[in-house]
Amino acid sequence: MNSIEWRNNAVRFLDQTELPLREVYIETSDLSVLADAIIRLKVRGAPLLGIAAAYGILLGIQSAKNSSKDALEFSFEESAQRISATRPTAKNLFWAVERMRNILRLNSHENTITLFEKLESEAKAIHEEDRVMCDRIGNIGAELIPHGAKILTHCNTGALATGGIGTAFGVIVTAHRMKRAIHVYADETRQLLQGARLTMWELQNAGIPATLVTDNSAAWTIKTKKIDLIIVGADRISANGDTANKIGTYNLALLAKAHGIPFYVAAPTSTVDRSIHHGDEIVIEERAENEILNGWGRQIAPDGAHVFNPAFDVTPNELISAIITENGIVRAPYVQTISAVVNQ
Ligand code: MRU
Repeated sequence: MNSIEWRNNAVRFLDQTELPLREVYIETSDLSVLADAIIRLKVRGAPLLGIAAAYGILLGIQSAKNSSKDALEFSFEESAQRISATRPTAKNLFWAVERMRNILRLNSHENTITLFEKLESEAKAIHEEDRVMCDRIGNIGAELIPHGAKILTHCNTGALATGGIGTAFGVIVTAHRMKRAIHVYADETRQLLQGARLTMWELQNAGIPATLVTDNSAAWTIKTKKIDLIIVGADRISANGDTANKIGTYNLALLAKAHGIPFYVAAPTSTVDRSIHHGDEIVIEERAENEILNGWGRQIAPDGAHVFNPAFDVTPNELISAIITENGIVRAPYVQTISAVVNQ
């Protein structure tokens, strides 16, 4: 299963809003279609957003391939802006745009055809590197998973959300392949049920023993099912280790502390934003009211109900036992340890 692919000058992606009932692929050579798919979470998950951003830029500049260099540069900036305006929180999206922009800068002496080829290679490299990073995160993180571990996870961090086996899910699937006899409890993950619809689907496809729980049963699940550890992904990690991830992650970190179990974050270094020092500076996406006002095929709150619908929260670094990256596992003090792995 490929969540996203670049082929024949078009992007083909799996529409994640249709899962788990239908596997629908959308193929487009129109940047607006891809940008809209990102906004609607047909394409989602921080690392996948980075890959989608790079391919999105290719879509946006395609028609300028045979024009002047000025026209290509202009459409590059237009496309970069369009893709950057889709969702604000995942660092990977902006990181990928910046990588593409660097290629444009470094090759400004080339003709437009060569420039496009270089940008295309860079987008493919971003995709391939993410696959490799996932494998490394999986192998490195699996050492934190004891035999017979009961694991609680949140949102979706698997192949659907990345270019490879996943981040937190990559650790889970690697531990499973190592025959660690794990059992995973997946939070259903409001708003859009990424845990129920997507993580359960991936767990079942991988043959990993798993149980679905509602978000509000987390404390009771930890206590009664004797959860050994919690592992989640990340959308943006500030220089001090504060971590933005799907709304509800912070709750879980507090619960891990209260129950004396480890709380792990797994993410590639492309998720780290060292330009910001503290989690308070992370922009948290707020989504439409109707995601909360409607569900189960009908309106579920009275007319006029006010809604606060943040898509992410920030877990303070002191609640994080370790961050698993492709360059190693880091622990507090994160300012120093994160800097060491990101510089590699
Ligand atoms: O709103 P989403 O579904 O894009 O949120 C995704 C998450 O919060 C994931 O946990 C995070 O992006 C890590 S994906 C490897």
